[in-house]
Amino acid sequence: MQAPKGTEDLFGEGARAWDAMQQTAREVFGRYGYEMAETPTFEMREVFERGIGEATDVVSKEMFRALSGDAFEKVAAGTPLKSAQDLALRPEGTAGIVRCAVQNGLVTPDGPVAKLMYAGPMFRGERPQKGRLRQFHQIGAECLGAAEPTADAEMIVMLIEFFEAMGIPRDAMRLLINSMGDDACRPAYRETVRAYIHEHSDELCEECNRRADINPLRAFDCKNDRCAEVMEGAPKISDALCDDCREHYEAVKRYLDLVGIGYVEDPRLVRGLDYYTRTVFEVQATDALGLGAQNALGGGGRYDKLVEVMGGRPAPGIGFALGFERTRIALEAIGALSGAARPLDAFVATVDPSCDDAGFAIVQALRAAGLAADIDHQGRSLKSQFKQANNRGARVAVVVGPDELAAGTCTVRDMQTHDERTVPIADVATAIVSE
Ligand code: HAM
Repeated sequence: MQAPKGTEDLFGEGARAWDAMQQTAREVFGRYGYEMAETPTFEMREVFERGIGEATDVVSKEMFRALSGDAFEKVAAGTPLKSAQDLALRPEGTAGIVRCAVQNGLVTPDGPVAKLMYAGPMFRGERPQKGRLRQFHQIGAECLGAAEPTADAEMIVMLIEFFEAMGIPRDAMRLLINSMGDDACRPAYRETVRAYIHEHSDELCEECNRRADINPLRAFDCKNDRCAEVMEGAPKISDALCDDCREHYEAVKRYLDLVGIGYVEDPRLVRGLDYYTRTVFEVQATDALGLGAQNALGGGGRYDKLVEVMGGRPAPGIGFALGFERTRIALEAIGALSGAARPLDAFVATVDPSCDDAGFAIVQALRAAGLAADIDHQGRSLKSQFKQANNRGARVAVVVGPDELAAGTCTVRDMQTHDERTVPIADVATAIVSE
């Protein structure tokens, strides 16, 4: 049996890397006031359609639907599904978090800011390649109820701080920022881009032409070199922002300058999800980090309409998500992935089967005292038990033999120096802790 294409088993070093990343995020984001939230890995399909946008690739092409057996039979028979049965695996975390915040009253127009973080698997039916999976893992943060540009700057600084805390040097990352405008200025801008695409229709690919009517800004993201060249000449959002959006964007940049976070303004950064308003940003890895085309380590932006779209009373929001798999590749490339398993404090070795009961009691006493301790479960020889102790990085071996047992003692052997001392069994945990 094989795991499905585009998925990855996580164990050993990979599982430790996922754990370390979550710990670092909890530590860094925790200092900014974020608390963990956990939402379902599947939601009503409507949550994603409304939240992320029906016209996005993520929803229209890549979403995995999740149907129970009877719902599947209905679909096969052409019977329409109730929306409560029409489920999909989450392609990202924001829509679910906002759904959760609205449903549970975590965000109200006059209430305090809600700062939520999450970590878990996301699902997109994309063509798998390096750094692009069908099940991947994100760590994200969402700040709901904060309209001020300080919130945008804080979000961006926190993301950079996370990558630095993981060991990625600042000069190996590129921070791109842009403003996508809002309801006041984007509709008119979108029309100018649509008109531009129509004017250049014979120079652009079929997909860009098709998108012109539904989602013209996506043409900025087209991977086709010729399209990228043509779109270089398209009208820029930076020239089309209304006064409020321009002021907000200027303030975000000022706050970033204030704390010395360098950025590149990219008027073509549009991102692939429809909920964004105003500030968007992305952290890309430079070539040194070996990610190739999939070089976005993380990204996000403001979504001031999403709470309302999800049925809540209007409240602004901003957030980001970062990709575990890409960050792991980057850390491996620069040798910053600390992958060792936790070494043992003690390995309990028994000389013969008559000592098994005592050995079992001792290893449990050591664990109860907070030590990382293990014992052989395969009936192996004493020599092989010492080998296991060595391989597991044990600081000491506790040797239990029949003669010592009769005297109520055992031997504690330092695995480095091979020094041995006899210790009463009742005191062995204290003796190892105080060493
Ligand atoms: P996104 O840019 O679609 O944003 O994804 C964020 C990160 O997830 C990417 O930068 C990348 O590292 C990782 N990622 C995305 N797709 C894949 C994939 N197929 N395989 C591996 N890694 C992937 C969002 O998802 C938004 N929800 C971010 C956000 C939060 N905006 C506001 N709040």
